[in-house]
Amino acid sequence: MEQRTRDRESSLVVLNGGPRPVTVIGKVWLVGAGPGDPELLTRKAERLLRLADVVVYDRLVGDGVLALAAPGARRLYVGKRKSTHSVPQADLNDLLVALAREGLQVVRLKGGDPFMFGRGGEELAACRVAGIDCEVVPGVSAALAAAASSGAALTHRGLAQAVTFVTGHAAVDENGRAGEPDLDWVALARPNQTVVIYMGLSTAPTIASRLMAAGRAGSTPVLIVENASRLQERRALCTLATLPQVSGSFAGPAVLMVGEVVAMAQVQPRPQSHHDEQWRSVELAGSPSAPFKPAHLVLAAELLDGEHPGVSRRGQA
Ligand SMILES: C[S@@+](CC[C@H](N)C(=O)[O-])C[C@H]1O[C@@H](n2cnc3c(N)ncnc32)[C@H](O)[C@@H]1O
Repeated sequence: MEQRTRDRESSLVVLNGGPRPVTVIGKVWLVGAGPGDPELLTRKAERLLRLADVVVYDRLVGDGVLALAAPGARRLYVGKRKSTHSVPQADLNDLLVALAREGLQVVRLKGGDPFMFGRGGEELAACRVAGIDCEVVPGVSAALAAAASSGAALTHRGLAQAVTFVTGHAAVDENGRAGEPDLDWVALARPNQTVVIYMGLSTAPTIASRLMAAGRAGSTPVLIVENASRLQERRALCTLATLPQVSGSFAGPAVLMVGEVVAMAQVQPRPQSHHDEQWRSVELAGSPSAPFKPAHLVLAAELLDGEHPGVSRRGQA
């Protein structure tokens, strides 16, 4: 009886429009930060960054992009630190939900595009399950930036009618050695396609040998693009046969582009416009000791013994 009275009282309070707890639910935005150059950010991403209460970001988000967040915004780094692991995905999902439940506008900033090998799908699913509003803002993925800066079209009439994006990541064994990527080598070895491999540097020797065993010629051109769109961008042209040797001089992040379109790749660093200089100075602000290094090109052909058809060296047509 006493309980019923209390219930009635509390419902009367509500019906009368009296005081009740105000619940502000925040929102999560999964935002693609692009490959590093802040000029490759979408306008929507830039606007959201300026409005965010908290920015949750990982290792591949460029400093120049992060600098666009409001000065008062909380910045939470959740990427890998040297010799430590990144925050487990389940904890990250919980963090996003918890921040939104605090009523915050959360920008989850992810390198490239959130849905390209970025585990954005898992974060979106976690928000949905928790009843948190979540929206995705696409970003320029590394493969697109690598193709653009090198001038190697991903598809090109007569050379590649399809493009396939794969991950070269493989689980590491107890001795710290990378295993084998779980890929359909026969499908990847088919002609008339470009294969772009993310996270493939450490498994490059295996990738090369599996593709050749599945029928791709050893002379098939391969382009390695490291730090696409960033100050430190480096590119190397080689072949499947020489990839194991050449890939060893890169530390990443890098993508490997395999296919005949790679013959279109420019081997000169990209022209640097006045505009480029502007963002560079933004990106370097706060680290005055950082030396200015123009985009550096590794002429892998110089490392190689033989020539391979369709791949140009600097200064050659
Ligand atoms: C976890 S995946 C994230 C990919 C990202 N979501 C995207 O769309 O580019 C990380 C891998 O992306 C590639 N990557 C990311 N940024 C890059 C860059 N600026 N240049 C070359 N490769 C990059 C590398 O293969 C790196 O190991």
